[in-house]
Amino acid sequence: MEANRAQAEYWRSPAGLAWIEHEHALDTAMAGMLETVLDAAEIAPGDRVLDIGCGTGASTIAAAARVPRGSVLGIDISAPLLDRAERRCRAAGIGNAAFLLADAQSHAFAQGGADRLVSRLGTSFFADPVAAFRNLALGLRPGGRMAFSCWAAVAENPWFRIPGEAARARLGPVAVGDPDAPGPTAFADAGRVAGLMAAAGLREICAEPVAIVLTPPGGAVGAARAASRVGPAARIMKARQGSAADAATIETAVRYAFAPFAEAGEIRVPALVNLFTCRI
Ligand SMILES: C[S@@+](CC[C@H](N)C(=O)[O-])C[C@H]1O[C@@H](n2cnc3c(N)ncnc32)[C@H](O)[C@@H]1O
Repeated sequence: MEANRAQAEYWRSPAGLAWIEHEHALDTAMAGMLETVLDAAEIAPGDRVLDIGCGTGASTIAAAARVPRGSVLGIDISAPLLDRAERRCRAAGIGNAAFLLADAQSHAFAQGGADRLVSRLGTSFFADPVAAFRNLALGLRPGGRMAFSCWAAVAENPWFRIPGEAARARLGPVAVGDPDAPGPTAFADAGRVAGLMAAAGLREICAEPVAIVLTPPGGAVGAARAASRVGPAARIMKARQGSAADAATIETAVRYAFAPFAEAGEIRVPALVNLFTCRI
């Protein structure tokens, strides 16, 4: 895990573990995104599926339901997130899913051992995306298919933009880093990523923005809580070592800013993700 040590550390730090604490809210909010990815993967009932950066396992469980005669291997670099995924899977009585603690960029996959690769938001954290894509391709059989989603530009995603603005308003501006550096929005430039996929030898590459709606539970309060405890606000809080009072102030600002997204008592946040598909 040497190449992605910083990510491994992040995803087992309290900021990464917020994905466990807010699992229900995040999975509910991003349920539509997961369906989009699984549909794009064109999974058949007997397929063997790799789920990259599976986190707490919602995608592994959903993929397992689509392959009653096949199997799913969820891979993640964070042991605590993977433990949670395993426990969830056991509790749901899923018998055709397994989990592996590994850096997907460098793990020696069983060559050609899978038919499909899926990922919801788990592929934009690689230090060397071309090496990672090349390595992931080794795990798929010839003709196998990949489908993964990543966030498009922050400006197009109020779920990211609003908490980021609220955190900067409270804690001050933060240095703007390399937009392509590993992180949640590193694959916002779909054309750039398509180029990286081509450089890795992937074929039939399709990279397109897809408009979705995020449907967090718990009204504006629930939405603001989830959106400000992971993502840019959480990253700024971590960098600035923000206090509980800072977190509360940020969350309140996000709650007010999310109010226009209320529809019939629910919060529906428009979002744009990049959907990438290809064949090996
Ligand atoms: C934004 S979370 C998404 C989690 C999950 N796919 C979901 O949608 O709920 C990104 C996940 O990618 C994992 N990850 C980051 N870099 C990785 C790597 N090099 N190999 C495997 N997993 C990685 C993190 O540990 C984290 O669980």
